[in-house]
Amino acid sequence: MAEESEIYKENHPKVFILTFGCQMNVHDSEKIAGIFSEYGYGQTKTLKSTDVIVINTCSVREKAEQKFYSELGRLRCLKEKNPDLKILVAGCIAQQKGEDLFKRFPYVDLVFGPQSLNSLQKWIKEKSIRIALSNDPEYHLKTLPLKREGQVRGWVSIMYGCDNFCSYCIVPYTRGRERSRPGKDICNEVKALAEKGFKEITLLGQNVNSYGKGFAEDVNFPRLLYLIHNIEGIQRIRFVTSHPRDLSNDLIKAMRELPKICEHIHLPLQAGSDKVLSMMNRGYTYIEYKEKIDRLREAIPDISITTDIIVGFPGEGEEDFQCTLRALEEIEFDGIFAFKYSKRPKTAALNLPDHISEKIKAQRLSMVLNLQDSITYKKNKTLEGKTLEVLVEGLSETDKDKLTGRTRANKIVNFYGNSEHIGNRINIKILEAKQHSLYGEVESRE
Ligand code: 5AD
Ligand code: SF4
Repeated sequence: MAEESEIYKENHPKVFILTFGCQMNVHDSEKIAGIFSEYGYGQTKTLKSTDVIVINTCSVREKAEQKFYSELGRLRCLKEKNPDLKILVAGCIAQQKGEDLFKRFPYVDLVFGPQSLNSLQKWIKEKSIRIALSNDPEYHLKTLPLKREGQVRGWVSIMYGCDNFCSYCIVPYTRGRERSRPGKDICNEVKALAEKGFKEITLLGQNVNSYGKGFAEDVNFPRLLYLIHNIEGIQRIRFVTSHPRDLSNDLIKAMRELPKICEHIHLPLQAGSDKVLSMMNRGYTYIEYKEKIDRLREAIPDISITTDIIVGFPGEGEEDFQCTLRALEEIEFDGIFAFKYSKRPKTAALNLPDHISEKIKAQRLSMVLNLQDSITYKKNKTLEGKTLEVLVEGLSETDKDKLTGRTRANKIVNFYGNSEHIGNRINIKILEAKQHSLYGEVESRE
């Protein structure tokens, strides 16, 4: 029997999935893998032996788009050598470029957008379509098969799309209007994860704080958290991304009251200057943002706060940029993602005057990163000697002798330990703070 299944494994068709971009995309790739798996495909990590290549693309910044084009260019010779190889383009660039992709890359077999993942089934069965970009109005009501990466932490989409139209951002054009999934479907998915032994879930949405908008019944994000919190077996709950404007007192209360919700929030600030925030159409001032940080820290003293920063937005003068540096110094985030402003098609910021030179953007980015590096390191240093609860995820990517996991505050901890710890929460004494992680030793089992 074992031999037969080995033969089956050798013979079944294979798919190679390459993912660019955010967690939403990583999770969409789990859905793409799930659909292929339903049709008997196995996943491979080698390009040479695959039957289908799917590139799940990101168009949030131009750099990500360029990376995809060069990757797709490289695949041309693979296709020339093996005309049976199928190349599929998914994700935000697929949605944004549509038919145009065939002009530049005629060897692409299917282009499908983030709201058309279910069209894959049709393609696998019949190969009768070449493009699928429809904005399925019922997408949020469908449950697609999933083949998840890992067995400890799982992602669960709670909403799709975004209605915020921040003036720099392409997402509302690629992922469409905001739609929340019914609470019942979300809870069922979380229950199924708990039954499979998953310990931590991350609720995903572009703007989780506006969950439930447009529902007839009175549902909102904090209420959803209370429902999910009741599900047995799940030990930790996280969520991304929160929009500062929609962060309510009820959410802070839920975070304080519900022990499974981890002490971490990712709250993108984007800029410290009110003039820039207003041009970005963010809907808050720096003072309003800072007040929410103060409330969060008052309610949850150990909370770790991370953010996104854009430097060199059109019209960002030297004083505006100084406001961003001051904000970083004042708030002392645990970590940041910082980006140079990148022009995106269709977005309002494209038409703003006073675009900033590449040179200044690069200088500002490195100033932001240098400042934050010292803050992150200083904050990590304060954890030395402390004992923290770590949910063990698996072997460390960089050093296979060590195990890796995260604290409730989402800090990565590496340590020597027995692989039987994987999937458990254990106490780790932090011995050394590094720039992007912590190193520790096992103190005692849960
Ligand atoms: N240029 C630079 N950064 C951007 N982001 C989104 N759009 C752009 C853009 N055009 C950043 C924002 C957002 C994160 C996911 O990506 O900081 O929070
Ligand atoms: Fe883009 Fe703003 Fe929506 Fe985030 S909230 S996805 S930055 S438009």
